[in-house]
Order: sequence, then C-alpha cells, then structure tokens
Amino acid sequence: MSKKVLAIYFSQTGQLGNIIDNLTAPLVQTGVSVEKVRIQTKIKYPFPWTGKAFFAQMPDCVKGVPTELEPFELKEKTYDLIILGYQAWFLSPGIPSNSLLMHPSFQAVLKNTPVVTITGARNMWISAMERVKKALLETGAKLVGNIALADNHHNFVSFVTLLRWMFAGKKDRLWNIFPKAGVAEEDILHTNVFGEIINKHLGSNNWDGMQDELLKEKAVIVKYNLMFIESKARKIFAVWANIIVKKKNQTPWLVAFKYYLLIALFIAAPIILTVDAIFFKPFLSARIKRQKQYYSGITYNS
Ligand SMILES: Cc1cc2nc3c(=O)[nH]c(=O)nc-3n(C[C@H](O)[C@H](O)[C@H](O)COP(=O)(O)O)c2cc1C
Repeated sequence: MSKKVLAIYFSQTGQLGNIIDNLTAPLVQTGVSVEKVRIQTKIKYPFPWTGKAFFAQMPDCVKGVPTELEPFELKEKTYDLIILGYQAWFLSPGIPSNSLLMHPSFQAVLKNTPVVTITGARNMWISAMERVKKALLETGAKLVGNIALADNHHNFVSFVTLLRWMFAGKKDRLWNIFPKAGVAEEDILHTNVFGEIINKHLGSNNWDGMQDELLKEKAVIVKYNLMFIESKARKIFAVWANIIVKKKNQTPWLVAFKYYLLIALFIAAPIILTVDAIFFKPFLSARIKRQKQYYSGITYNS
C-alpha cells in the first residue's frame, strides 16, 4: 500500500504553496499519495496589505491568539508523514499557522505522527520555529525534519523588498537595483533535493539521521547576526504586544511600533552588532556554535 502524506500549509501569495509543490514532487513521482491542503482563514487578510492592517497583526501573532479557519477536510485519520508549511509573522508563527496548530482536527492527526516543518520566510524564522516545535511536542507529534527557506540577501535589502512586495504587491526588481522579493527561485527548486531525502526515509520508515542529511544540503542556515537580532527583538516585541493589547485605541501604539521597528533595524541593530562583534562575539565562539547547532536541529529545549 502506498504511503500517505499530508502536506498542509497556509500561503498568502502562493510562495509557500510553490515551495511545497517542489518539495513533494519527488514523493508524488514515486507513487506516494500526497494530500495537499491549503488552509484559509475565515477573515481574509488583505493583499497587498495596508500598513495599518499589517502592523495590527503584531499583538495577536506575538501572543498566539488564533483566528477561525475555513472548514477543511482531511481524507485520512492517520498519515505516515505530515509536512507542515508555516509562516513567520512578527517573529512568531503567523496567525493562520498558529490557528492550524491549535485546530482540534489537525491536532488529532498530529498525534504520534512524524512531521517535517518547512517555512518560506524573509530571514527571521528561529523564534517562530521554536514555538512550532513546542506546539508539536505538546500535541504528541514527532518532529523528524525542519527546512527553513529564507531570502538570503542582506537584512536591509530583504526588508525593503519584502515590504514593497507586501504593501505594493510587487515582487519584481525595484529600479533594477534591488533583487526580486522573497525566497530565490533556485532555492525553491532545490527543495526537490530535500524531497528526495524525505522520500528515502519515508520508504524505510526510519527517520534517524534525516535532519543531518537535510543540513548537508543546506536545508537550514543559521546566520549569527540574524540569530542575535532575533533573540533581542523577540523579547522587545513581547513587551510591545503586552502594552498594545491593553490599549483601547491601539492605532497610535501600532504606529509607534512601526517607527520603533525601523529605528531598531536600521539604526540600533548595526550599532549593537558592531559592539557585540568587538567586545563579545570573539569570546563566545563555543556558545555561538552550540546555539547555531540547536536552531538547525529538531530538538526542543523549553
Ligand atoms: C504580517 C507579516 C509579518 C511577517 N513577519 C516576518 C518575520 O517576522 N520574519 C520573517 O522572516 N518573515 C516575515 N514575514 C514574511 C513571511 O514569513 C513570508 O515570507 C511572506 O508572507 C510570504 O509568504 P506566503 O507564502 O504566505 O505568501 C511576514 C509577513 C507578514 C505578512
């Protein structure tokens, strides 16, 4: 009997859908039954976004508040493997992804099932993935692999191109100077290789060592500067979210958060990174190596 795989994801622009199609192609080619489910939220998010609507998602993302999903049907009660495509929104699992993780029908199929997670992020997915790991552990799923696709251009560059994509709906090269927004096409095509690795382990039903094989193919690349910024920003976002949810009129606070974000990214982060590079980083190489290994892996330390 052919193996049964559920590939379930949310994708606003279709980027993660494209990634999932490329990833699962080798499985489909060898006769694995791949059921693809693209979930939808009841309340639709605008695309292109308005600035107000975009930043208004921040508190619920950070605080893990779910939204209602359109009903979805799963053909099977159990699967040999679940491929979960999730987004990072404001350094947290995006609201649709988080709502899926909290959905009773999805939680029911997750129990005791091997799971491979995959994201198509700008470049800051670590904190979101830690929360996905925790949610999977709590539902009794078995995380066997993780793949993180990101825009590999400089942090400033991907910030500009992502915001242009989100707010103007334009993914093409701005002024012929900036690169195209989002995950590079060749990286999306390369997920085929990850699919072959997954297929091999699915066939033998032995997941040992799969993440190491995926890592050899660069399924996850943890960059120190981004890991460093994210570790600080995650805590600051939590403070902002806690303040904003208590406000009756959140609009001015969300505007303030937007400006904070710009200042933090373009002014504060380069200064802090420079200070860190001179005074701390050279003396912490063992710790940094451990952290990179941990975030590349599939274990969860609470
Ligand atoms: C509201 C919002 C917040 C986002 N925040 C982050 C983030 O914190 N880190 C990141 O790497 N990407 C972030 N992104 C980019 C998404 O992870 C993703 O790459 C993009 O939305 C395209 O995904 P799609 O397949 O849903 O179209 C954000 C996108 C949105 C819409």
